[in-house]
Amino acid sequence: MTRAVAVGLGERAYEVVIGHGVLAEAGRRIAPLLKHKRTAVVSDETVWALHGARLTAALEQAGIAVSPVVIPPGEQTKSFAGLADLTDRLLALELDRGDVITAFGGGVVGDLAGFAAAIYKRGIDFVQVPTTLLAQVDSSVGGKTAIDTARGKNLMGAFHQPRLVLADLDVLATLPEREMRAGYAEVIKYGLLGDFGFFEWLEANGAKVLARDPQALAHAVARSVEMKAEIVGEDETEQGRRALLNLGHTFGHALEAETGYGEALLHGEAVAAGQAIAMRFSAALGLCRTQDATRAEQAIAAAGLPTRLSEVAGHPFKAAALVRHMAQDKKAEGGRLTFILARGIGESFVARDIDPGAVTEFLLGEGALP
Ligand code: NAD
Ligand code: GLY
Repeated sequence: MTRAVAVGLGERAYEVVIGHGVLAEAGRRIAPLLKHKRTAVVSDETVWALHGARLTAALEQAGIAVSPVVIPPGEQTKSFAGLADLTDRLLALELDRGDVITAFGGGVVGDLAGFAAAIYKRGIDFVQVPTTLLAQVDSSVGGKTAIDTARGKNLMGAFHQPRLVLADLDVLATLPEREMRAGYAEVIKYGLLGDFGFFEWLEANGAKVLARDPQALAHAVARSVEMKAEIVGEDETEQGRRALLNLGHTFGHALEAETGYGEALLHGEAVAAGQAIAMRFSAALGLCRTQDATRAEQAIAAAGLPTRLSEVAGHPFKAAALVRHMAQDKKAEGGRLTFILARGIGESFVARDIDPGAVTEFLLGEGALP
């Protein structure tokens, strides 16, 4: 069964189509968006080798000519150098403003190709065909596009909504276990931030989702996308509620920055640890019950994800170094920090004006070095 979730953004509204076998329908679904019967498909080497032929066949069946632009996999590609290379290759294809880019891959491909689409000849349309669990439940929806710089993650970017998102659950069959778990961290996030019932469902069915049980996977992806679509529809450019989607990210980004954005710590793993830490910080501040923080931590740990600083490569971390990274966060203002904290499971809120000293003290209690 295929489900379509609407992202309600007026004239920029679009659908996220989720199901098994969606890739085979790509030509029929993308064709109505095209002025010219062609698309540049941006993908990484791994995804292209595994699934490129199937996407190409589906597009060609609908009479769409495919120009593959295959880039190296990995976070390092989401850089100024990666953007320069990609935009140069798109220009060499002589795409015009009536053309559409298809981003076919995980969050790295989606964020980079989306940003390239946002700035290519002042902006052209793009379609997301996400191939990781993380990209299907989070990065392909909502229009955040970006690259990293030496000073931090996602610091250069644009809001640029895709015209369509096609999430084929079958492509996840080839996703390595570790990447599957990393994506699951973003699934748990939706339960923790705003849906206690979904969190309970994940406690009972998380193992099935990770084992790629077709029905469990379909429910987990669809519920996650529904929640994201609802939040983005209300607050596209993160003036308020959309910040909730950053639960675990302030701590997580600091850990990623300290470990160097590489294989040692995947983005989803950093977010997993960051969520457990955010729940414990909420408990330490007296905002939520300790048993809620413990329950969240258990659900994250049950998925084989880190919940403690001591489980993250690079431990022991210096508290001051982590707080310095947090001060670079896009949500920080005037030396005060912003966190997504919780009053309970499913009851997150945006806490502004947090004193960095309180964070340092908490991190020392978590095992960070002075
Ligand atoms: P990724 O794109 O690096 O993909 C992870 C790895 O899996 C890569 O090596 C890739 O080649 C491989 N892969 C992808 N699909 C595969 C498949 N079906 N089978 C086998 N291998 C496959 O990483 P990711 O976790 O998808 O995305 C992380 C990025 O997403 C980060 O840069 C993060 O900042 C960004 N992100 C963006 C948003 C947003 O709203 N835009 C949200 C969350 C995360
Ligand atoms: N992943 C956070 C957001 O889309 O806002």
